[in-house]
Amino acid sequence: MKILVVGGGGREHAIVKKIKENKAVEKIYALPGNGGIARDAECVNIGAKDIDGIVKFAVDNKIDYAVVAPDDPLVLGAVDALEKAGIPCFGPKANAAIIEGSKVFSKNLMKKYSIPTAEYEVFTDMDEALKYLETCPIPVVVKADGLALGKGVIIATTRDEARNAVVSMMNDKVFGASGDRVVIEEFLTGPEVSVLAFTDGETLVPMVSSMDHKRAGDNDTGLNTGGMGTIAPNPYYTPEIADECMKTIFLPTMNAMNSEGRTFKGCLYFGLMLTPNGPKVIEYNCRFGDPETQVVLPLLESDLLTVMQATTNTALKDVEVKFSNGSAACVIMASKGYPSSYEKGYEITIPDDIQDSVFVAGAGISDGKLVTSGGRVLGVTDTADTLENAIKGAYAKVEKINFDNKYYRHDIGQRALQAKETK
Ligand code: AMP
Ligand code: GLY
Repeated sequence: MKILVVGGGGREHAIVKKIKENKAVEKIYALPGNGGIARDAECVNIGAKDIDGIVKFAVDNKIDYAVVAPDDPLVLGAVDALEKAGIPCFGPKANAAIIEGSKVFSKNLMKKYSIPTAEYEVFTDMDEALKYLETCPIPVVVKADGLALGKGVIIATTRDEARNAVVSMMNDKVFGASGDRVVIEEFLTGPEVSVLAFTDGETLVPMVSSMDHKRAGDNDTGLNTGGMGTIAPNPYYTPEIADECMKTIFLPTMNAMNSEGRTFKGCLYFGLMLTPNGPKVIEYNCRFGDPETQVVLPLLESDLLTVMQATTNTALKDVEVKFSNGSAACVIMASKGYPSSYEKGYEITIPDDIQDSVFVAGAGISDGKLVTSGGRVLGVTDTADTLENAIKGAYAKVEKINFDNKYYRHDIGQRALQAKETK
C-alpha cells in the first residue's frame, strides 16, 4: 500500500513511524514532511495548505490511503477534495472540521446540546464587546473565532488586558478574518487533560489521556507555546472522570455533530478542564494534538493504519484499539528564544540507537546534515512501566542529543508525578 501523510511536524513524524509498522505498507510520502521525517518517508515539497497540489500528487502516485494531520488543510476541505478524487482519507470533512475552525460554532454547538463548557458571549461588534468587558468578572478569556496558529486565546487578568485583546483582534486584525468575531468567556480553573478519540460517527473510542505543558519555562512560567512536552496517561483523569466525560461530553459531541448533519470521522481532540463543577470542554480540535500524539501513539499496541481505515469505513466497532498499561513522556527540544525569535541552521546530532524515539518537528537537511529550522526542533519520547521511569528515560535521551542553542524544560511530568503521590 502507498500512504500519504499531509503535514510536516513532530505529530506527523509520530504518525509516519507508527504507520510504518504495518507490513502491508510499501511506501509513505509526507507532504511536505521535514528533514527528520525524510528518514522514514519520502518527503515531497508540496505545502499542507496546497489542496490542489496534494490531490494531484495523490492521484498521479496512485495513493491508496491519505492521512490529513494538520488543522488548516482539514478546515480548507482537503479530505473532501481527496475523497472526491477517489482517495480514502483519515480526517473529518470541512463541514465537521469547523468544530475547531470556528470557536463560535463549537461554543454554540455545546450550548445547544448541553455539553459542559465555560459560559460565554459572542460579539461581532467591537463596541458591544468593549461594553460587555466593563462589567464582566475578571479574569476573563478572549478568543478569536477562527484559526490563529494557537495564539488566538488571551487570558486577561485585568480589564485593560481584555480591552487590548478585543481591539487587537477586532480592530487591528492581528489574526486577520479569524478576529471578525470574538468569544468572551468565563475563566475556569482546574487541571487540564487532553483526550484524543477515534470516531467514525457511530462509535467513539478514547485514546489514553495526556497532559501538555504549554508554557515556555520551568514551573509553568514564560510565554505560551505550541507545547513543550507531554506525558500520558494523565493522573488527574481517573476512570470515574473518564466515564463521566464519555457520558456528558464525548458521546454527546459525536451525536450533536450527527444531528447537525456534520458527521465527524477521524481524530476528535477534547481539551478538558477538570473544574470544581465537573469536567468542561475548553476546546475541540479536529485532529491529533501536537505534542500529545508523540506520547499517545507510542503507547498504542494496535495497528494504527487498521484503526484509521476502520474509522474511514465506519467499522470502528469491529477493530481493537488497545493501549499499553505503561506510561510515556515526551520532552520538546526547542531553539533558545522560542516562541519569540531564535536562530536556526545548527547541526543536530542524534545517536542511532535512539532515533526511533525522536520525532522531528523543525529540522531540515543542509549539505546532507540535519539542521535546526524551527522553534520546536525535536520531541524526545520514552515509554516505560511507570511515569517516573518514562520521564527519566526521556531526559536521558535528551542528554545524548546535541545542537547549538538547544533549550528544553526540565520539569516535564513533575506536576503529574506530584498528583500521583497525593492520591
Ligand atoms: P488554546 O490555544 O485554545 O489551546 O488555549 C490555550 C489555553 O488557554 C488552554 O490550554 C487553557 O489553558 C487556556 N484557556 C482557554 N480557555 C480557558 C478558560 N475558559 N478558562 C481558563 N483557561 C482557559
Ligand atoms: N497540543 C495542543 C494542540 O495540538 O493544539
